[in-house]
Amino acid sequence: MATKKLFIRTFGCQMNVHDSEQLEELLKEPGYARTESAKDADLIIVNTCSIRDKAEQKVYSQLGRYRHLKKTNPHLQIGVCGCVAQQQGERLLEKAPFLDLVIGTHNLDRLPECIARARQTGRPVVETGFRKAVPSIGIPTLPAKHTVSAFITIMQGCDNYCAFCVVPYLRGREESRKFEDILAEARALAARGVKEVTLLGQNVNSYGISPGGGRSFAELLRAIGGIGGIERVRFTTSHPKDLSDDIVACFRDVKTLCESIHLPVQSGSDAVLARMNRRYTSADYLDRVRKLREASPEIAISSDIIVGFPGEAEQDYQKTLDLMEKVRFDTLFSFQYSERPGTAAVGLDGKVSPEEKRRRLIELQALQDRHTQEKHDRLVGRTVEVLVDGKSRNTPRDVTGRTRSNKIVNFAGGGELIGKTVRVRIVEAFLHSLRGEMLG
Ligand code: SAH
Ligand code: SF4
Ligand code: F3S
Repeated sequence: MATKKLFIRTFGCQMNVHDSEQLEELLKEPGYARTESAKDADLIIVNTCSIRDKAEQKVYSQLGRYRHLKKTNPHLQIGVCGCVAQQQGERLLEKAPFLDLVIGTHNLDRLPECIARARQTGRPVVETGFRKAVPSIGIPTLPAKHTVSAFITIMQGCDNYCAFCVVPYLRGREESRKFEDILAEARALAARGVKEVTLLGQNVNSYGISPGGGRSFAELLRAIGGIGGIERVRFTTSHPKDLSDDIVACFRDVKTLCESIHLPVQSGSDAVLARMNRRYTSADYLDRVRKLREASPEIAISSDIIVGFPGEAEQDYQKTLDLMEKVRFDTLFSFQYSERPGTAAVGLDGKVSPEEKRRRLIELQALQDRHTQEKHDRLVGRTVEVLVDGKSRNTPRDVTGRTRSNKIVNFAGGGELIGKTVRVRIVEAFLHSLRGEMLG
């Protein structure tokens, strides 16, 4: 059978990136192989994100671009998967009547069957029901040879209901994957030559509390940390309220756990944090940061911040800047608040104007750029361990990799270094990367 061509366009978080990898894996059996060109495709899948209004709008403009391809290729099928599919369901067909498939977040495993059904009936197939035990949680993927890093899903869904966030409505209830299944996948990846794994979930710290697990996240980290061949372990995302001392201790005890954590704070104002339903205060957050740095002095801390949440006054915003000064994040993802349908924040008063949100964001990002640059400058002259993950995109004679603290380092070297961990002296610091020289 001739292979059919699959084009996947992915928006959103790392879980979604990994969902796309799983879709690709699932579609191998019915004969699909990935193409990088939408024009050649037999099937186009847009795996979507709805976290902010802009993310959702991008999906519609992207779909508009694929629509005309059906004129030259009447056989082409176009599907929308992921969070916008979950959110819009049938309504997507009104906006985009040329769609063949709308597959929500709990039904990815049904994609092959839905493709066939849409083909047979000539009518669009919509599957957006929530399922109790999600079969598509952690479809094992077999990465290509020479793949250095891989994701492993350890849980899905979210029960936190932060007031601004749509994720609990789009990914369903928290559900942990079986401890043994996760370990088996990690071992299989190690056997395939993978050196680094990133454990994925919206709130990995509560792994095992929800059904399906039974053992804690710290236990999981210790177990994964002991697998031969896996040199680096990372995880994302952590919720500060669930970052237990037990997990913090792993940064001291588990040698393969990298000195890096993404710990979204969202705001430095206790009043705003309370209205966001985050269930910690800025003092709680600073206390976690202190403990992390006690356990692992070199740990890099990154975060997410939202500006302009309803009711955020100038003094609340200043408290966020104060917290940034106190913590000094290595990197920061910052966003203007975007109202999402169905979330608790829709009913809150004190909406902040778009101009004000923009001003706050620009100023906050400038502060963060100074902090990031300072952190990078301090690395100049130091020797770091770099896991090489590929050739540099801009300079063919260079390779690129990451430090254990997750900073990008470029240096002169050949393709034979890919997958190796080497010692590199940092010679120059930029805002988004470092330049180094490999030591013999
Ligand atoms: N599960 C992760 C975050 C997932 S969403 C956590 O608990 O932190 C990634 C980030 O998007 C969030 O941390 C938040 O900063 C931002 N975000 C989520 N909803 C948003 C909204 N409505 N407007 C602006 N930013 C939002
Ligand atoms: Fe959204 Fe909060 Fe859940 Fe993160 S923890 S996914 S921000 S509801
Ligand atoms: Fe976006 Fe859904 Fe992830 S809304 S951030 S793709 S969970």
